[in-house]
Amino acid sequence: MKQSFGQLQDGTAVSRYCLTNEQGVTVSLLDLGAVIHGILVPDRAGQLADITLGFANAQDYAESTTYFGAVIGRHANRIKDGAFELAGQPYQLAKNNGANHLHGGLMGFDKRLWTVGTVTADSIEFSLISADGDQGYPGTLSVSVRYHLDNNNQLSIEYRATTDRDTLVNLTQHSYFNLSGQLDSTVLDHQVQIFADRYTPVDASLIPTGVIASVAGSALDLTQATLLGDVIDQPNEQLRLAGGYDHNYVLNSAGDLTQPAAIVRHPASGRVLTLYTDLPGMQFYSGNFLAERTVGKQGIAYPQRGGLCLETQLFPDAPNQPNFPSSILRTGDTWHSTTLLRFSIDD
Ligand code: BGC
Repeated sequence: MKQSFGQLQDGTAVSRYCLTNEQGVTVSLLDLGAVIHGILVPDRAGQLADITLGFANAQDYAESTTYFGAVIGRHANRIKDGAFELAGQPYQLAKNNGANHLHGGLMGFDKRLWTVGTVTADSIEFSLISADGDQGYPGTLSVSVRYHLDNNNQLSIEYRATTDRDTLVNLTQHSYFNLSGQLDSTVLDHQVQIFADRYTPVDASLIPTGVIASVAGSALDLTQATLLGDVIDQPNEQLRLAGGYDHNYVLNSAGDLTQPAAIVRHPASGRVLTLYTDLPGMQFYSGNFLAERTVGKQGIAYPQRGGLCLETQLFPDAPNQPNFPSSILRTGDTWHSTTLLRFSIDD
């Protein structure tokens, strides 16, 4: 189903599409940013509620740096000083986060109008072309993202990208979840479990130090289901630097899409989100920068830590960290990745 979602300041029309399944679950998406605008899932009592943060109109998406629900590209998270070398050649990317490049730059994929491809009742495909030199990246990049909702309440997100010159690619999805469905509340009453024994510590500008560290014995250890409110304000240098969780976890699943990467539970409503990915990393971001009480859908002011993100990815600053998996996409190769979000109920 296609609806108008208003327009941008320059008159560009934005559309909204809804996928539904036999369980009454609805996922709504925008062609702006290939954004997940809302996900309606039932609680234990069968009550449907929207569990993602978002804006009421297109212009708010265009102006915001929250990345609500958007597909991020070309490169998720930060690249130090926006600089990297490829085949001995230096490149300078747009700097949009202090001295660093974040989430694809000033005009990342979250701000682009995507072309809508095949649409069915339960799936939609978006695509875009990122021109050679876009935000400083080499090569013309062709990107597609396909969302598919099945009758077991699983939303799959499938990314593809090809290039005509060697370049960097690291695509992710930046939805903020609040499983309570009460979007004016924080996620501190959520239990988070991340199946990762290691993570990549950061410096004060949230750039990885390059170390791959063990989570053991620290507040970063979420290998057991952990109530966020119990741990997020622990005296821990990494949590202090980020104002909470904003860290790349090195997933134990290591590319195996059949092994869960993370489980988030909201005990009060019974809603559970289980995430699977074939990528090696996942940024767990606890909405620390939502401090300005951003006003979203239904006029709701989102508090700090009002949503949490589980961003499947290659590691931040990969092009400058020789010991991290490479984010180089070679000409002739296809960047292909799948993330699965499975919604269920705990009794
Ligand atoms: C990053 C945060 C950043 C946020 C922007 C997250 O993916 O890890 O550091 O502030 O996106 O909303």
